Amino acid sequence: MRSELIKKLFVAFAEGDRERFLEISEEIIKEEEKKNHHLLAKELRKILFDNNRRLNYGKRYKANIPIPRDSDKGFPLLEIKEYYFTWDDVVLPEHLKFKLKLIVEETKQKDVLATYGLRPKQKLLFCGPPGTGKTLTSKVLSSVLKYPLVYVRFDSIVSSYLGETAANLRKIFDFIEHGQWVILFDEFDIVGKHRDDPYEHGEIKRIVNNFMQMLDNYKGNSLIIAATNHQHLLDPALWRRFDEILFFDLPDEQRRKALFRQYLRVLETKKIDFDDLAKRTEGFSGSDISQVCEEALRRTILESKKYIDMEYIKWAIEEQIRRMKIRGNKYGR
Ligand SMILES: Nc1ncnc2c1ncn2[C@@H]1O[C@H](COP(=O)(O)OP(=O)(O)OP(=O)(O)O)[C@@H](O)[C@H]1O
Ligand SMILES: [Mg+2]
Repeated sequence: MRSELIKKLFVAFAEGDRERFLEISEEIIKEEEKKNHHLLAKELRKILFDNNRRLNYGKRYKANIPIPRDSDKGFPLLEIKEYYFTWDDVVLPEHLKFKLKLIVEETKQKDVLATYGLRPKQKLLFCGPPGTGKTLTSKVLSSVLKYPLVYVRFDSIVSSYLGETAANLRKIFDFIEHGQWVILFDEFDIVGKHRDDPYEHGEIKRIVNNFMQMLDNYKGNSLIIAATNHQHLLDPALWRRFDEILFFDLPDEQRRKALFRQYLRVLETKKIDFDDLAKRTEGFSGSDISQVCEEALRRTILESKKYIDMEYIKWAIEEQIRRMKIRGNKYGR
């Protein structure tokens, strides 16, 4: 580690400048990664990440606003989390990453846009099969924007109490007025799940309309994301209410290779034939590949080996295929 960096780190600490402290820590971690000290880098990130929620609490948002709760059952309607991911943590097609980076720039420079009467893209719909990085990308956006992530499981606020849903949504939208966030309405899949029940279908339609109205009326500074893997079941009228619809597809061969590289990098990978791995895993999601890698790594580490054996990965791939068959569909986690 360069002595210059250590000095800067100390200064940041002495001056109580947490943002600066985090920036320099990130630089140190990146240096370690360059030196291939991936385990150390991962550990450092974990230390920062796990403790930072406490350290940084109240820095990025006012912690004294109470989290809204379901008035009947009392459970919290949202969770607030801070993440420290980078663009490198998510493997996406170039055009998609480009669009996302543009949205981040628009958000950061909204004041500049405003002088021309323009506003940034702010309401996004993420769709695509399970395990393709929709939730992860929301975390990356939250990290790079330095806005905390407000996580709402749409499904749970709806299905737990149909009648209460509108009130719950109101509370969430009232809450988000108090800060700058990335808000993720995850599992925005209710339209699909309830469509066979005529009563619930009508109710759900009402809720979705309600949601869309609140979305339309939202004039704050946050980035709002809804994520679903049942996009084909969403009413086409819904689609145009979002500023951008982004599709997350299953990774092609090139991206599968990148995913294997990313998830195996904690150990030496000299003898790994990444082309072969990518060829063997057609139809796998990013999540499937990360699971395969974890499985192979666990086995390698338990056997105190320094190198990952190609055979272990092939074995883990077969295991994953077996699981995917039980799951009954070709895709997904
Ligand atoms: N594109 C990707 N790049 C890197 N890692 C990925 C990617 N997609 C999935 N993963 C890995 O799989 C895990 C699960 O992915 P994630 O939760 O983002 O999927 P999702 O698209 O939100 O799925 P679902 O529709 O089921 O909610 C991630 O935490 C990450 O480890
Ligand atoms: Mg998800």
